[in-house]
Amino acid sequence: MTRTKIVAGNWKLHKLYHEGIDLAEEICSSMAAGIRTRSGEIPKVVLAPPYHLLNAVAGITAGVTGVYTAAQNAAAEISGAFTGEVSAQMIASAGAGYVIIGHSERRTLFGEDDAVLSRKLVLSLEAGLIPIYCIGEVLAQRLANAHFEVVLQQLKSGVFHLEEEAVARIVIAYEPVWAIGTGHTATPDQAEEMHAFIRRCFAERYHQAVADNLTILYGGSCKPDNAAELFSQPDVDGGLIGGASLKAADFLAIVKSV
Ligand code: 13P
Repeated sequence: MTRTKIVAGNWKLHKLYHEGIDLAEEICSSMAAGIRTRSGEIPKVVLAPPYHLLNAVAGITAGVTGVYTAAQNAAAEISGAFTGEVSAQMIASAGAGYVIIGHSERRTLFGEDDAVLSRKLVLSLEAGLIPIYCIGEVLAQRLANAHFEVVLQQLKSGVFHLEEEAVARIVIAYEPVWAIGTGHTATPDQAEEMHAFIRRCFAERYHQAVADNLTILYGGSCKPDNAAELFSQPDVDGGLIGGASLKAADFLAIVKSV
C-alpha cells in the first residue's frame, strides 16, 4: 500500500499578481532542482493561489514534476447567473488539477454547510479535479470531547454519499479550527489520533483498502519546526499549509520534512 504524500500551500487571500508569480517560480525552481523527501522521493506539492493567479501558476507548475495547482474553492453550480462565482469546470479549464473544498473559513465566514459542500465535491469530481476536502472541529467541540463525533458527522453529510471509485480520487484534510492561524498546533499525538479515526471511518463505510489508500493531510499552524514530527505519524500523509506557505523557504523546508 502506497498512499500519496502531499504538501499543499493554501495562500488564502494573499499575494498580488507579481508576488504570486515570484513565489510559484521560486518553489518550482527548487523543486525542479531536485528537492526530495526524507525518504528520497520526489514530494507531491500543490499550490493553491487565489483565482487571479490560477492560470499563471498552473502554467508555471505544468512543467515541473510533482508540482500541481489548486483553486481554494469552487461554485456549487455549473454555470448561470451567479455573479462572483467560479465553477469547477472553469478551474479545470484554467489548468488546475486540484481544488480545496470545505475549508473552515468557507464554512464559518461564508456559511457553506455540508449540503453545499457535498455538491461542490461532486461537481469538482465531475470536472476531473482532485478535491482536498477539509474537516475539523472548533475549540468548544474539542473541549466538550465531541471532536470525533463532529468529524464523523462532517464525513457522513459531506463525503460518504460518494461511491467507492469517487472516494479513491479525493484527499482529506483534517484542520482543527482552533489550530488554524493561531500558532496552537495539534500535538503529533492529537493529529495521529484523529487521522487514524478518520481512516477507520472510511474503512467502516467502504473497506480497508479504500482507507489504506486515502491521503489525509494535517492543517493548522504547521511550520518548518513542527512539520517533521507531525508528518512522521503513521496516518499523517502530509500537510495543508497556510501562513508558512507564503514564503518559499518556509514552505520548501516543510516539503522536505515529509
Ligand atoms: P495556518 O497554517 O496559517 O494555520 O493555516 C492552515 C490552513 O487553514 C490551511 O488551509
